[in-house]
Amino acid sequence: MGRHGKHTAGAFATNPMLSTDQYELLDFGRGRKLENWRGFILDRPAPAAQGKPARPELWKQAEAKFIRSERSEGKWQRRKPWPNPWQIDQGDFQLELQPTDFGHVGVFPEHAETWRWIAQQVRRAPRPPKVLHLFAHTGGATLAAAAAGAEVTHVDSARNVVNWARRNAELSGLAEAPIRWIVEDAAKFVTRELKRGNRYQAVILDPPSYGHGPRGEAWKLERSLRPLLEACAELTAPDRLFFLLTCHTTGFGPAELEAFLADCVFGACSAGARAAKVVLKTTDGRQMPSGAAARWPG
Ligand SMILES: C[S@@+](CC[C@H](N)C(=O)[O-])C[C@H]1O[C@@H](n2cnc3c(N)ncnc32)[C@H](O)[C@@H]1O
Repeated sequence: MGRHGKHTAGAFATNPMLSTDQYELLDFGRGRKLENWRGFILDRPAPAAQGKPARPELWKQAEAKFIRSERSEGKWQRRKPWPNPWQIDQGDFQLELQPTDFGHVGVFPEHAETWRWIAQQVRRAPRPPKVLHLFAHTGGATLAAAAAGAEVTHVDSARNVVNWARRNAELSGLAEAPIRWIVEDAAKFVTRELKRGNRYQAVILDPPSYGHGPRGEAWKLERSLRPLLEACAELTAPDRLFFLLTCHTTGFGPAELEAFLADCVFGACSAGARAAKVVLKTTDGRQMPSGAAARWPG
């Protein structure tokens, strides 16, 4: 139970939002997950993957494996060349996959359910809403909103991921969509928008535990989230259509996110909001925890 109300039991589950020929969680356990990304099988770290793998026989099929090391971020060990081109098709948009030095491939599949929800929210607006997407990474949520007809401002501090997001827009036939691509510190950008008098109908944010702006501005979730949410509340106050906060940080589960939304955005009453854990499901229905989400309307 959230401090301010009731966060909904159950979970936001991504699969089958992505069809299994695009993405499939095959198995997980012992801090790792085994996934099929468009026919290429990856074995990667997943701290939330508790317990033993249920299908140990599958793991030898992995074509690439990411090993964390103490001296560096880690490295990939491969049995095959990376697919080229390599991308997944969500239906309304395409996302390019690429191995990164951090063991990611540029898409967080657990967000697929929120992409569907975002598109629904945009479509129910009487005119194209202005959507602010902070910590926007390679742009899954940006493209979900743009494909549904929103005007999107995409903000991330890393130039290379903003360029990657632009490529995703091109791949998706959305190069000419009304998307502003901004390389900036999220908190600084929001403060400037308030001063400039710019306002939005919706905010989407998926902040990391730690991060930094392009000029080294420190982001620490525990300390920085509250003032950022308060500023986002002000940005959307005149005409709010939707609000989505997702998080992968230990200690920031559904109850905490719901309380943050209630305290910083909606005042004492967060009526109509819904918060739940986010899970990825294996084909045989087992659930791997993958963060939490709070959204309004629920
Ligand atoms: C957890 S990822 C977001 C994943 C995204 N929701 C997706 O589905 O692809 C966090 C992102 O925040 C960005 N970031 C970190 N600190 C930032 C800051 N201070 N301002 C803006 N972006 C920041 C990182 O570059 C990274 O792309």
